[in-house]
Amino acid sequence: MPLSSVTNRHSPPGTTREIRQTLRQLYTKAPWKDSLYIQGRAWLIDFETIDLMIAENSRILDLACGYGLLANYISLSQPGRTVHGVDLSPRRIKIARQTIQDRARISFSMGDITQFTPSDYDAITFIDSLHYFDLPTQRMILQRCFESLSPQGKLILREASKKPSWKHALNYAHEWIMTHSHFTPTRDKKIQLNFLNGAQWEALLRSVGFEAVKTIPPRHWAPYTDTFYVGYKKSPPYA
Ligand SMILES: C[S@@+](CC[C@H](N)C(=O)[O-])C[C@H]1O[C@@H](n2cnc3c(N)ncnc32)[C@H](O)[C@@H]1O
Repeated sequence: MPLSSVTNRHSPPGTTREIRQTLRQLYTKAPWKDSLYIQGRAWLIDFETIDLMIAENSRILDLACGYGLLANYISLSQPGRTVHGVDLSPRRIKIARQTIQDRARISFSMGDITQFTPSDYDAITFIDSLHYFDLPTQRMILQRCFESLSPQGKLILREASKKPSWKHALNYAHEWIMTHSHFTPTRDKKIQLNFLNGAQWEALLRSVGFEAVKTIPPRHWAPYTDTFYVGYKKSPPYA
């Protein structure tokens, strides 16, 4: 089915509300269990904030893309972007691929992000997944992200910070249940969740070479402490 039959237009795709509506329609055929989760994720992810940080016609890698929600949002918003999503879960990648339809600039592949080889992207998005890895692995993945970015590229990392602690406890409990039930697959079956505090996430980004890091706090109504840490390869604004 061509995407135009879902959107009733080619481009531009319209307001953020319309883009979210189109996004929902892409997943109507997902099995109910996945569909419930997808709707929850769509509510929890501030796609609009991420979208505004990425230029038109950029090349973007979405690491641990899950069902491809963010990849789809940023692609629907600016069809000139080239977006690739990678995730460990064959089930999630299968559902993500079913959303592609007739779009040539979006793709998904199954893979372990600890194995990804540096390439060339203008932006890398990495949402709610770095805490699955121990500190040396976190550093190694971030190092590869740094090496994969163009000179003015940026990494848009979203991770839970530890304050306020009651919200962080919710984050932790949610992730513990999702990973220990294996609804969210992880490389190591006996997974330990490795959350850092805000200053430590920032320091980790700087330690692999990011010249500047911008922190965007969670929306005040959000139930979790999900915070954006945007790593700039070179300090903005660019000349
Ligand atoms: C909390 S979900 C986030 C998914 C997506 N980023 C989103 O925001 O909806 C975490 C994702 O990390 C993926 N994942 C876990 N370990 C991975 C690994 N080693 N390589 C690639 N993906 C991984 C899981 O399959 C899952 O889809």
